[in-house]
Amino acid sequence: MPRALKVNYCVEPDAVALAAHAARHFVEMVQEAVAARGRARIAISGGSTPKAAFALLGDAGQPWRARMPWERLEIFWVDERCVPPDHEDSNYRMTCEALLDHAPLRPEQIHRMEGELEPEAAAARYESELRNTFRLEGAETPCFDLVALGMGPDGHTASLFPHSAALNELGRLCVANHVQNKDAWRITLTWPVINQARSVFFLVGGADKAAILKEVFTGPRDVERLPSQLIRPASGILTLILDRAAAAQLPATDAEGRGFLERVE
Ligand code: 6PG
Repeated sequence: MPRALKVNYCVEPDAVALAAHAARHFVEMVQEAVAARGRARIAISGGSTPKAAFALLGDAGQPWRARMPWERLEIFWVDERCVPPDHEDSNYRMTCEALLDHAPLRPEQIHRMEGELEPEAAAARYESELRNTFRLEGAETPCFDLVALGMGPDGHTASLFPHSAALNELGRLCVANHVQNKDAWRITLTWPVINQARSVFFLVGGADKAAILKEVFTGPRDVERLPSQLIRPASGILTLILDRAAAAQLPATDAEGRGFLERVE
């Protein structure tokens, strides 16, 4: 029986408004999780796009820092580069500089992927961290309250790159994945774990993402070439928070900048 995926997208005029929307979304989703379950476990992506939103969350001069129930929040990563935590490519380092160094979080609330380790060892240790934190048994999958994703111009998300081995990994929670065109190793959550989350959103900005967003969300299914198409949350709902440049090739939005797509596969 084909399943419908409802894709709700919000389009902001520029990068500043995009970051503010993302900061608000993080706070609202964490508040919702804390109200419902007493805590919020979120998995965040790296790259450049989320940096501005993280900076707003950590800025005492902005409204979002005071609204975030920090003491109930646990932060995980969607993926990490296989580099030390102080390396310029480290997602952890980027998140520290933008947010963690400015937020009232205790070390035990931060679940870092250990990019400095040998890739397979790092993936295995993170899998254990997930199993222990979520108290998983057997083949259970962790259910994050929120997963925040980015998208590369090649259609990758997390570190699920086109034609890479991790696309076919269904049983593990976290794997090491070799990225051919970067000749680099990454650690990544697998796509079944991402899809298990209560809420998943893509945060995408810039004209260089317009073509890939159109392909991923309005083109034919081709998950080997477009791994972002693997993201189909169990809830049947996917949120996109975009700026106008990135959304340029998607169907027009309403006057409030909201759009809707449905994919049946
Ligand atoms: C990473 C990310 C990756 C990122 C996309 C988009 O480790 O780089 O997790 O999936 O979200 O590559 O990156 P930008 O935000 O820099 O465009």
